[in-house]
Amino acid sequence: MSETAADQWTIQRLLEWTTDFFSKSKSFSNSRLEAETLLAEALGCQRIELYTRFNEIPETEKLAEFRSWVKRRGAGEPVAYLVGHREFYSLRFAVDSNVLIPRPETEHVVVCALEAAKKFSADPIRIIDVGTGSGCIAVTLATQVQNCKIAATDISDAALAVARSNAETHNAVDRVKFFQGDLLEALPAGSNPVHMIVSNPPYIGRGETDTVDTQVKNHEPSVALFSGEFGTEIITRLTEQAPKYLLPGGFLIFETSPIIMDKCVHIVESNAAFASVEVVKDYSGHERVIVAQKVKPLDG
Ligand SMILES: C[S@@+](CC[C@H](N)C(=O)[O-])C[C@H]1O[C@@H](n2cnc3c(N)ncnc32)[C@H](O)[C@@H]1O
Repeated sequence: MSETAADQWTIQRLLEWTTDFFSKSKSFSNSRLEAETLLAEALGCQRIELYTRFNEIPETEKLAEFRSWVKRRGAGEPVAYLVGHREFYSLRFAVDSNVLIPRPETEHVVVCALEAAKKFSADPIRIIDVGTGSGCIAVTLATQVQNCKIAATDISDAALAVARSNAETHNAVDRVKFFQGDLLEALPAGSNPVHMIVSNPPYIGRGETDTVDTQVKNHEPSVALFSGEFGTEIITRLTEQAPKYLLPGGFLIFETSPIIMDKCVHIVESNAAFASVEVVKDYSGHERVIVAQKVKPLDG
């Protein structure tokens, strides 16, 4: 290869350099994938296409955007915030630094809610999503349960703006309504009771702050992460409020951390309004989701 050609920033060379740069940082779990994701986004193409364009030299403007993302990524900014989206349940969700980046574990909340929805023949099936963030749970359910009405709440107006845009993208605006406020109190007075309440609430304890990944701590909104000293404050309040908003036989389904799972099970089991409490594991085998059913009236 001539000296000039070797000096040129082809797609191949950009990927190799960036992968190496990211690999030198301990906190990068998949340097090559991240390099490809950023470059594909900057070039406006699919990741797979990069492999057929190895010798191409990107336009100056696109290269400048890619370089600025690599720099920001190197400083710890999550890829999802740089490119402005993340996949959840095979759907693309817009994200920005006002919302938690949707996590694969949270797909289990969706799976549990879809199972619970099968138990109801009502039309519509009414659902509340508490702490909707990007809207990933609410909007995904709206795409999967055709006959549903979903109320999604969040304390953050900025998060709700992102969730609304995701509802528009996925044609769910007629099925999902958004309300700003504290947990279930965000809902209008006199709202109809629902078949299920779903949530991925904040559940990290302030006492655990030192153990939280620096990238998460520095870039994702702390209101989406932390919940009192032990991580259980919001779950405790949600469990107290939920029975009033649930139909008899309705479900409270929420994600939590395996670290505080026993405490969460105890919180729900101590509430006489719930008849049963099931714990569901995630893909990694960690106890992740609680499915609690509200007592039904006795027959006869
Ligand atoms: C862990 S994030 C989950 C976001 C989204 N549901 C997901 O699974 O990616 C928790 C969300 O709860 C919201 N939140 C925190 N405290 C709240 C409260 N008291 N009432 C309503 N929402 C709250 C945060 O703004 C954040 O969007």
